[in-house]
Amino acid sequence: MMYDQPLAVGGLELKNRLVMVPVATRKADACGRVTQALCDHYAARARGGYLGLVECGHHFVCEEGRATAHQASIAHDKDVEGLKREAAAVHDQGTPVFVQLSHAGSAADEKITGTHPLAPSAVTCPGAKVGHPLPRQMSADDIARIPEYFSAAARRACAAGFDGIEIHAAHGYLLDQFLSPLTNLRRDAYGGSLENRARLLLEVLSAVRAELPAGYPVSVRLGGCDYLPGGNTIDDAVALARMAETAGASLLSVSGGMCYYGRPGFEDTPGWFADSSAPIRAAVCVPVLLAGGIKTGAAAEALLEQGACDLAGIGRAILNRPAWARRETTKLRAANAPARGAAR
Ligand SMILES: Cc1cc2nc3c(=O)[nH]c(=O)nc-3n(C[C@H](O)[C@H](O)[C@H](O)COP(=O)(O)O)c2cc1C
Repeated sequence: MMYDQPLAVGGLELKNRLVMVPVATRKADACGRVTQALCDHYAARARGGYLGLVECGHHFVCEEGRATAHQASIAHDKDVEGLKREAAAVHDQGTPVFVQLSHAGSAADEKITGTHPLAPSAVTCPGAKVGHPLPRQMSADDIARIPEYFSAAARRACAAGFDGIEIHAAHGYLLDQFLSPLTNLRRDAYGGSLENRARLLLEVLSAVRAELPAGYPVSVRLGGCDYLPGGNTIDDAVALARMAETAGASLLSVSGGMCYYGRPGFEDTPGWFADSSAPIRAAVCVPVLLAGGIKTGAAAEALLEQGACDLAGIGRAILNRPAWARRETTKLRAANAPARGAAR
């Protein structure tokens, strides 16, 4: 069995390959402060220590990058006390925990941030909600602030006791808006070629790395391929993964770009981004996580066995069934146990 093999991510040893991927809870208070309900939510899903890792849903790194009401904040030093309780809630269950850092860019909600949404170019994402305002194109000064927001947030994550961070560069959020040719029409050093479109993500990675101790795990949730006409391709995703690894990523969590986290037509295919994750895994040395449609331990095990990924990410199945990991681990162990009375 692959699912219960340990794996190193940076300097952290995971005891198995089953990961709860970030699923935003909207359980923070109106200011983004961690609540007891938010801590209880993660504790319930980590209970028993059956998961190798829990990744907490996106936390905004600055007010302008806030996506929704009741999203948790990692934008201010005063957030650290609450974040300590969030990390401890998962640690108390014997499970390591990462926190995801994000800036929503054009997907930020003006009604909550009080400012007009920012983006690489004045275009909305292909899947933006009807009526969402056209974002304002970011100036050079707007862009220069972004690595600093992420690195300050990384410092807070480390101070709060999280075992690692994840940079959100998928699902049509700000860093993904820079990566995709569908939303990045810039003609300066941040647009045009794939290298230019990746520049901001790489600057964020290097700023974050400079803030953290050596070996501290930094995951990138990579929306490498857009799966849309005119968008980034799987080859682009592989090239982006290589760049992120070189810039210091210790884990690549493969998901969708401008198609977000779903894959129309593949609803019944567990690991629906495997056609991206497998070539990425072949091209990099760091571990690769694959999520999307994995509902059972058996499906996770099959993807690990096939070499589609090193870690299986599970979202909604755990969201909807807090005891998912205990139940699926029990089934996997039973399936692997030698039959009673079998010849010795
Ligand atoms: C309600 C909800 C909230 C989500 N929040 C996040 C998030 O904060 N960050 C992120 O990278 N992905 C987020 N996702 C995407 C999930 O991490 C995951 O990729 C997606 O649900 C597909 O995996 P699944 O089929 O196992 O659920 C969210 C998905 C849902 C349904």
